[in-house]
Amino acid sequence: MEIMNARILDRFREALGPLDVITDQDDLAPWLADWRGVYAGQAGALLSPRSVEQVAAIMRIAREEGVSLVPQGGNTSMVGGATPRPEGVNAIVSTRKMNRIRSLDRDANIVIAEAGVVLQTLHEAALAQGRRFPLSLGAKGSATIGGLVSTNAGGTQVLRFGTMRALTLGIEAVLPDGSLFEGLAPLKKDTRGYDPRQLLVGAEGTLGIVTAAALKLVPAPLDVATAWVGLRNPHQALSLLRFLENGMTDAIESFELVPEGSLALVLDHIADTRRPLAGPHPWHVLVEAVLAEGASAVLTDWLGRAAEAGLIEDAVIASSEAQAASFWKLRESISAAERAEGPAMQHDISVPVDAMPDFLEAASRAVEARFPGVTARGYGHLGDGNIHFHVCAPHGVDAARWRADPGKAISNHVYDLVTAANGSISAEHGIGQMKIDAFARLAGPARLAVIHGVKRALDPLGIMNPGKLVPLAIEPPAA
Ligand code: FAD
Ligand code: MLT
Ligand code: ZN
Repeated sequence: MEIMNARILDRFREALGPLDVITDQDDLAPWLADWRGVYAGQAGALLSPRSVEQVAAIMRIAREEGVSLVPQGGNTSMVGGATPRPEGVNAIVSTRKMNRIRSLDRDANIVIAEAGVVLQTLHEAALAQGRRFPLSLGAKGSATIGGLVSTNAGGTQVLRFGTMRALTLGIEAVLPDGSLFEGLAPLKKDTRGYDPRQLLVGAEGTLGIVTAAALKLVPAPLDVATAWVGLRNPHQALSLLRFLENGMTDAIESFELVPEGSLALVLDHIADTRRPLAGPHPWHVLVEAVLAEGASAVLTDWLGRAAEAGLIEDAVIASSEAQAASFWKLRESISAAERAEGPAMQHDISVPVDAMPDFLEAASRAVEARFPGVTARGYGHLGDGNIHFHVCAPHGVDAARWRADPGKAISNHVYDLVTAANGSISAEHGIGQMKIDAFARLAGPARLAVIHGVKRALDPLGIMNPGKLVPLAIEPPAA
């Protein structure tokens, strides 16, 4: 990679102050690799702006000097989205120092948070005001508002409240031409043509830098019941979902599928975990219901009816917040346990909810037959038709070599199966650098034309997060 020259670095230092421009490669190292340890990139500097004005100054210098920018929040991307590519003159723009909650209006149920606010901090700030931000995920201790907006993140409450697209009421962002999009006003109605706010949600840092977002809050949960249920197969899980949804209307907030193999990995690798039910079951779901009162009694009643109808094998309802937290720990530790176990090809795919059980069984059989020695497992957000379909390597392989071959072929096979089932190759993590080739191959001409057209219009120099999401070769300008 071409090292950024001293004159450009001086310009960044002048704009941000010397302490907020890091160039030492050892200090930069943690921000040059991804959470899963799959990608490693290079950057000439880590820039940490503290204000919108400083972000605008960075954008101006980058345009003038031909520096490509990689926005980074918590660096928890599962698709290498926040990891710079090895080529070109990259700078990482970290939003960590833009971490103010600008306002929280409990009557209007709206919070305005800067891009670097960590999700858990937002949860705590909302709860302190008797409100909550109804989106959560395993990386909540690191993931930031800017990253969540830019990946249209999902998580474990989408069933009831939708993804970030539904929860983002307004956005403030610096666009590649240096202009400030001031779209924080939470307008309920706005029909001024194309909506830049919606373009920025899920843009993966390719259309500008989000500096703040106005987000929807809901009243704090009054009464929550959390259950762990043992099941025979994913079809039974879907029948249970429909049964509970029909019986308890919109009280069901989470419906997370866990196969025995994933639970076993968590019990093996994660400290302080134990099996919630007496015996093993081939499949499990974690169900959470929220009601004004009596959630536990109502969920117990409906699970009892489900048992009578032969829809479940066994179930336990958490008798305390600590026990509920222990169920969630099992669910949210699956990625970490799998990472500790060895390499895997990960696919965050969706198909129509009702088609998921058949897809899961057929795809697992097909992949395991075609690539002997691998183990396919699907877990996660069954209620959203979004499963993390992970194909784990046989023990003892060299991780990098296995990912290249047969890993790449495995992913292509999975994406072909998903496409044939009218599904999406990215339900929640985005395209990043991981899926850019598969996206180019499978997206179809109309979707690609939109992606390319928007990118060319807003970032004609290709300075924003090159090599991610957009399979178009816009050469970064020469430095
Ligand atoms: P980063 O990883 O830093 O960046 C993600 C992308 O957004 C990159 O393309 C980056 O360039 C861009 N970006 C970041 N900040 C900005 C900004 N201010 N302006 C413009 N672009 C920006 N995701 C889910 O959807 N659901 C889950 O259930 C889920 N579970 C996870 C569990 C674990 C254990 C882990 C490690 C990750 C999980 N993820 C999940 C993925 C990840 O947490 C989300 O994608 C999250 O939104 C990323 O936030 P971040 O701040 O870490 O963003
Ligand atoms: C989750 O839901 O736990 C994450 O999105 C999963 C992952 O892909 O590891
Ligand atoms: Zn997920």
